[in-house]
Amino acid sequence: MPKITFIYGDEKKIVEARKGDNLLQIALEAGVPIESACGGNGFCTTCLCNVKEGMENLSKRNDREENMGIVKDPERLACQTEVEGDAEIEIVDF
Ligand code: FES
Repeated sequence: MPKITFIYGDEKKIVEARKGDNLLQIALEAGVPIESACGGNGFCTTCLCNVKEGMENLSKRNDREENMGIVKDPERLACQTEVEGDAEIEIVDF
């Protein structure tokens, strides 16, 4: 199972995730504080996060991210990013 490390402020939480789940789902299930104003539909950017490690273990950037201007590493929209392996994720808007 992919191991996802979330960093938010001074806190860190490591959780096991199911392959194919997205970072927003994983964070919410784990009680990690993350905003999702558009309900995880890729239209708001409040779920913006920085991938500190493991970008290669995440799904490729999709059209919704590109439409919202999220086009450069390390930025990703948590709701559009599915996990395949371990990653370390910093919540930006914490
Ligand atoms: S929750 Fe709105 S873009 Fe991810």
